[in-house]
Amino acid sequence: MDALVNPDKMDQPELSGPGKAGGTVHGIIGQSPPMKRLFKLIERVAASDATVLIQGESGTGKELISRAIHEGSPRREGPLIPVNCGAIPEELLESELFGHVKGAFTGAAFTRPGRFELAKGGTLFLDEIGDMSPKLQVKMLRVLQEKVVEPVGAVKPVKVDVRVIAATHKNLEEEVASGKFREDLFYRLNVVPLHAPPLRERLDDIPLLVNHFAERFAKIQDRPQVQIPAQIMHIFQDYEWRGNVREMQNLLERLTVLSDGDVSLEDLPSKMVKDHGQIADNDDESPIPARAFALPQNNHAITDFNREVEAYENQLILNALERTGWNKNKAARLLNLNRTTLVEKIKKKGLERNEPAAQSQLHPGDKDQEDGP
Ligand SMILES: Nc1ncnc2c1ncn2[C@@H]1O[C@H](COP(=O)(O)OP(=O)(O)OP(=O)(O)O)[C@@H](O)[C@H]1O
Ligand SMILES: [Mg+2]
Repeated sequence: MDALVNPDKMDQPELSGPGKAGGTVHGIIGQSPPMKRLFKLIERVAASDATVLIQGESGTGKELISRAIHEGSPRREGPLIPVNCGAIPEELLESELFGHVKGAFTGAAFTRPGRFELAKGGTLFLDEIGDMSPKLQVKMLRVLQEKVVEPVGAVKPVKVDVRVIAATHKNLEEEVASGKFREDLFYRLNVVPLHAPPLRERLDDIPLLVNHFAERFAKIQDRPQVQIPAQIMHIFQDYEWRGNVREMQNLLERLTVLSDGDVSLEDLPSKMVKDHGQIADNDDESPIPARAFALPQNNHAITDFNREVEAYENQLILNALERTGWNKNKAARLLNLNRTTLVEKIKKKGLERNEPAAQSQLHPGDKDQEDGP
């Protein structure tokens, strides 16, 4: 299967060592604070042989993280063997994991090693561990405790030499609390917990990822690289991305196929534009109405330049704040301002939410009069 039809497989590790070039660690893109923390943890945990449990929503890069840990570990020359515990039926999963001997069950024509044995000297990646049946959870606990597996139908246990990394999109603490996942197994797995942060907790990474995928799909498909205008990048930063990086990757693939390079609102999925609602529509407006520049009709009236500019600035800020329900991150993006700058301005100008007095801020010079007796 090539990378175009299976984009999930296209991000093979780029073998850039931890901390190297542009926020990429073993093909994991990110330079937001949560990702930097994650990279540090990956680097540290890779050096050890400790069992790791990676939790995170769908599409947050758990599999990529497991690969990065393996690649950075002393076991990197050994195999990295994945098992999707959620995708294989229980009866097959047992022999898949632990192997079986010839004749162990109908159809077992040959002795077959399990993935624990195949991963010898390397890493076993137990994906979707939260979906494992209670029966197999018991067996898994034994393997982790005793470092031996019992192939189905075998009389002698087989020693295993693997490092285990497990992952799940479920909240395993909750699964334990509701009795669906064994507590003892949870603690066995959760020696080093890693959390793959969802995209909405690392908005700073969105442009980086978008550009990365735009460039990659342009190369893979030999098409013009899609250009994402600032307005659409803002929509991306406001969107929920329930499918996280996978959803973004799929969208960029689609945009590369469907557009000739320039992406406009019509090219986006309607839910994305709809979610964005008013902000998306209004971004097309000329940001500064012409009347804002009009001098008073009376030629002798004096225009106080500084006061007018400040009033207009206040109006723009209040407008952005109102349109975003006083979400300062979003308002800052609407205004293309640094959030800190915006917050400082709000503080300095004393702008407040829903106060009738907010109007008086439009002309700060009038403040004394209005505050007066
Ligand atoms: N930070 C990242 N940088 C680059 N690509 C990423 C990043 N995170 C995820 N991806 C890509 O997104 C896709 C989904 O990632 P991955 O399969 O690792 O997610 P997952 O957390 O295992 O998802 P699921 O829970 O659905 O199995 C993959 O193609 C992966 O290469
Ligand atoms: Mg996965």
